[in-house]
Amino acid sequence: MNILILQASPRANGSTAWMAEEYKKAAEAAGHQVTLVNVSKKKNAGCLACEYCHTKGNGACIQKDDMQELYPLMAEAEVLVLASPIYYFTMNAQMQAPIQRMYCVGSPAKVKKMALLVSSYSPGVYTGAMAEYHDICNYWHAEDSGIVTAMNDEQKTDETKQKIQAIVNNL
Ligand SMILES: Cc1cc2nc3c(=O)[nH]c(=O)nc-3n(C[C@H](O)[C@H](O)[C@H](O)COP(=O)(O)O)c2cc1C
Repeated sequence: MNILILQASPRANGSTAWMAEEYKKAAEAAGHQVTLVNVSKKKNAGCLACEYCHTKGNGACIQKDDMQELYPLMAEAEVLVLASPIYYFTMNAQMQAPIQRMYCVGSPAKVKKMALLVSSYSPGVYTGAMAEYHDICNYWHAEDSGIVTAMNDEQKTDETKQKIQAIVNNL
């Protein structure tokens, strides 16, 4: 399958980047085609709610920023993986911008399955991110293929790697 991973942590050697890489390695080993995008390095503005896309724009966003690179990748993805650190009890702003900029498109055309990889310092802080993720799965008619969370001492461990392998096996 064609898999797109959005990795939103600005920390190149952090837990989220590690989880995204482990997912990529496991998925490639299983024969999938994987594209990993570090969205924290992109300039993706928030949606302006100008409705240009739903009027004169005919589905195109008026803002010509780095989302122009992401729209074609989103259009081709069959599996979409969201990998984000938890900031203030939810996915970070670097992840929220590309998700909300999909407003012009509606649903990503080919996405059938999704997965969520999240890192945090504390336990019990995943309710917001998980609720949003499940709502997006429903909204985009995508099946939840699995969620892996890694707080503090679960980060970069063999156990977390095995959990990632398990959700790749679930594709
Ligand atoms: C702005 C900011 C907000 C954060 N908010 C939370 C939080 O609400 N709960 C929590 O457990 N950790 C919070 N953290 C800690 C990160 O989620 C944690 O360090 C995570 O492992 C970072 O992942 P990364 O190394 O992949 O970037 C926050 C960190 C930052 C920078």
